[in-house]
Amino acid sequence: MKFINNKLRIENAIIQNIAQRYNTPAYCYSYKQLKDNVNHFKKNFSSISPLICFAIKSNTNINLIKEIKKFGLGADVVSMGELMIALKAGINPKKIVFSGVGKTSKEINYAIDNKILLINAESKSEIKEIEKIAKIKKTQVQVGIRLNPNTDAKTLNQISTGKKENKFGVNDKIFYELVEYCKNSKNITLKCLSVHIGSQILDYKPYEKMLKVIGNVIKKAKFNFEYIDLGGGMGISYEKNTKKLNYKKYNLAIKKFLKGRKSKIIFEPGRSIIGNTAVLISKIIYIKRNNVKNFVIIDAAMNDLMRPALYGAVHQILPAIKKNKKSKRAYEFVGPICESTDKFTTIKNFQEVNEKDIIVIRDVGAYGMSLSSNYNLRPKPIEILIKGSKIKVIKKRQKHKDII
Ligand code: LLP
Repeated sequence: MKFINNKLRIENAIIQNIAQRYNTPAYCYSYKQLKDNVNHFKKNFSSISPLICFAIKSNTNINLIKEIKKFGLGADVVSMGELMIALKAGINPKKIVFSGVGKTSKEINYAIDNKILLINAESKSEIKEIEKIAKIKKTQVQVGIRLNPNTDAKTLNQISTGKKENKFGVNDKIFYELVEYCKNSKNITLKCLSVHIGSQILDYKPYEKMLKVIGNVIKKAKFNFEYIDLGGGMGISYEKNTKKLNYKKYNLAIKKFLKGRKSKIIFEPGRSIIGNTAVLISKIIYIKRNNVKNFVIIDAAMNDLMRPALYGAVHQILPAIKKNKKSKRAYEFVGPICESTDKFTTIKNFQEVNEKDIIVIRDVGAYGMSLSSNYNLRPKPIEILIKGSKIKVIKKRQKHKDII
């Protein structure tokens, strides 16, 4: 994404033109950025040749999943819907892992019937449910057990998953019990230890700690796991000057962990693959001043992009057409929804804007569209993929008649 002659572009497409042609709000993705991200990810971990399972929850657009499949990635799914879309996009079931604390028997049945690589179980009851269903089907099911390593990911509390107070996984004591249970089961084959300590992680040290915990647990469990699923969580830079995750150090820690072991590593990245591939294009509806603030009311809202309202997440905003004149007052960019949390960000020194101007909200590829809703009965935005000079609608804008 860059400005050429003051016009913001994604690859060769000019944002202002896209807004005019397809209307706003619109999610707009760059194919090249996606490809670069996948290549970087692969390169960073090339020495351990992992199985990379894209976390479908971060983006459920089937056209994007199809592209991701073409790069050879598998999928991490957490519901029947996500498993269905991964299969429909053509992802090999032998590259699909199923995570989640509350898989229903219907979902387990579906996963078994489709012969996916692993069901990563998160409780005693779930292991027993998988065993029961496998027995009825007279089959053997490959499972993983998700360990809660009680490791602080040092990220936002709301997206932290690996501490003992979090609902995810089982503690070490139950883990050992389950390993013994699986050893004696005719219908369950234990293949994997899985973890996922959180999302938007920018410090490699929590990963290092997590690997130490796993190492100790494996020693005590005295079990050879064919797979170690380390989850996802690799963070991206939403704001200027944020530190970057040191992939080299994370990779080194994994290599150290793998010494003397034959396990294959699985990753479940979402954000690091798709996060910075998209912008949300939006039009300024009104500008409203009061004594203390300058509200810029845009046509995108928290139903289109939930992260700021839900986590206080900050996404940068850029104008579609750059002008030199700076505003003297700070702008608070807000949506039209009847909630005070329907606000994106406040920016000082933004260029002076006018009603009907086009702006973009950056880095919305992950947990943008996938977390969107029809709140206030607002139709969901259109999704567009840019590939060089080609513009493709990869999801139509919802119409009112679709939701009423
Ligand atoms: N694996 C498991 C088991 C997960 O729960 C998640 C994310 C991932 C993989 C992918 O994590 P990633 O690489 O994308 O960090 N809605 C929040 C993020 C929630 C993440 C939930 N789990 C946000 O917008 O920041």
